[in-house]
Amino acid sequence: MTTAQLLERISKDETTTRRIGAALGHWLQPGDIVAVQGPLGAGKTRFIQGIAEGLGVTEPVQSPSFILIQAYSLPGGGRFYHVDLYRLEDPEAVWALGLWDLFDETAIIAMEWPERASGFIPEPYLRVTLIPVEDTIRHIRIEAIGAFPLERLRALQTLLDRE
Ligand SMILES: Nc1ncnc2c1ncn2[C@@H]1O[C@H](COP(=O)(O)OP(=O)(O)OP(=O)(O)O)[C@@H](O)[C@H]1O
Ligand SMILES: [Mg+2]
Repeated sequence: MTTAQLLERISKDETTTRRIGAALGHWLQPGDIVAVQGPLGAGKTRFIQGIAEGLGVTEPVQSPSFILIQAYSLPGGGRFYHVDLYRLEDPEAVWALGLWDLFDETAIIAMEWPERASGFIPEPYLRVTLIPVEDTIRHIRIEAIGAFPLERLRALQTLLDRE
């Protein structure tokens, strides 16, 4: 496993978190997976709402909570899946969810609580970590896990540097 650190930033409010998510969303391509981790209330859903915005999803993105997987249509065709594994008690249960069927070349997936199914996310993927510092301050880290094409990583770096 290789890890490339792409961004480390302090977000001062939820709008900033959303905007960084949107920058990432602009860059995503079919087949990409983003694992968004961090404690309860860190801003994972806010960040993913930003991703959806960047992807051009027009429907409002809410927390999937009980549903675990929520699908949205992408403007260019294909689907964006918002997955929330918080209620997954047993990592083995992820098999029953049909999550594997989503991991194809046409889907874009953003996942909350990826730790609940640790070890099963196929590389390469992006790992976003949100850490509450105080009140509305969040530490955000974006890392590439596994081998993305170098030119794609450079393009993402450029996009994120503008944020
Ligand atoms: N800098 C910030 N970035 C993101 N959210 C923030 C920030 N500051 C304050 N907030 C608030 O924190 C909350 C984050 O909620 P959100 O649902 O996105 O968290 P979550 O990580 O998805 O939680 P859960 O683990 O319950 O799914 C929101 O109420 C939001 O307004
Ligand atoms: Mg959430």
